[in-house]
Amino acid sequence: MASLLGKTHRVFLTVLLTALAATPLLAQDGSVAGTIEDEATGSPLGTVLVEVVNADGSVVVGFMQTNSRNAAKWVNGVQEFLCPDPSFGIHSFSIVIAGGEQLRVPLEPVSDLIDRLDEVVRFAWPRPKMLIASFPHNPTTVCVDLGFMSRLVDFCREYDLILLHDLAYAEICFDGYTPPSVLQVPGATDVAIEFTSLSKSHSMAGWRVGFAAGNREMIAALARVKSYVDYGTFQPIQIAAIVALDGPQDCVEENVRVYHARRDALCDGLGQAGPTPGWKIDKPLGTMFVWAPLPEPFRELGSLEFSKRLLEEAEVAVSPGIGFGPSGEGFVRFALVENTHRIRQAVRNIRRFLRNA
Ligand SMILES: Cc1ncc(COP(=O)(O)O)c(C=O)c1O
Repeated sequence: MASLLGKTHRVFLTVLLTALAATPLLAQDGSVAGTIEDEATGSPLGTVLVEVVNADGSVVVGFMQTNSRNAAKWVNGVQEFLCPDPSFGIHSFSIVIAGGEQLRVPLEPVSDLIDRLDEVVRFAWPRPKMLIASFPHNPTTVCVDLGFMSRLVDFCREYDLILLHDLAYAEICFDGYTPPSVLQVPGATDVAIEFTSLSKSHSMAGWRVGFAAGNREMIAALARVKSYVDYGTFQPIQIAAIVALDGPQDCVEENVRVYHARRDALCDGLGQAGPTPGWKIDKPLGTMFVWAPLPEPFRELGSLEFSKRLLEEAEVAVSPGIGFGPSGEGFVRFALVENTHRIRQAVRNIRRFLRNA
């Protein structure tokens, strides 16, 4: 594995490979292998397999489908689960579709999140079965450190909760920040399973390929359900994923540079004072989003109506925060999916709209 592979992905893959090395199922028929090497010594760490079943780690179809499958297996009838609010849609709805019920706990301020979770779990009956977390977080862009992850693992251990962590933005981070993998916490595999995806780091959105690693029982359950539901990822995509991970990783750095430039074009552009005060927005340390509080004169309007007005009067599409859950009200989410030229154009339109409103 090229040494440029981001630190979090490396930690994640190393754990995955350690787990795989401990299983006799490495040579499943029909699997495709690539190798990963220790960055420092260059010695082989092991083999990455696509479509490993019944092992501690497997390469899975993209996160969205995988999460739904976990739900199908783990949510047995009506089960309560915890998910901080607001949340990326599939984190809530995959379980709801499978018959579970979400206990919404406001995500922010994240420094007190575990206390709030504790209050909810202590009085909940039946006891929730799972906590779904994801940092760097979509839509709020909240980022955490390893100490936080460690407390989250302790909390899940105390209440016998499955911790499902979605690390989709493992590599998309800025300004020297490196997001922790939950698997860096000693003993995390007692309670946790973690997913990551090639969608953002390797621009493979829609190709549906990612990894899961963690608790042996959970991976086995996931593999069992998957073996009935999708039979596996289209082989050319498996091979493309291996080539992507095995080759030079400067494409990942380039993607990060692109998102970074887009982030700055948006936040700096909107923040500049002019005839009216600028729209001050914190720059995110991770993800491909910007989470913005509604400008003061529009707070009463609400995020949905504000988003409609931005669309109609500034020709800029944003996601209203309320669409991600009640705690998302008062915010909109910008997705950094346009080039910097188009972003500057959007900034000009938004500034004109704010001036004339
Ligand atoms: C937090 C999060 N998880 C997962 C995904 C999607 O991952 P995949 O493309 O592997 O299904 C996204 C994409 O928007 C995301 O924001």
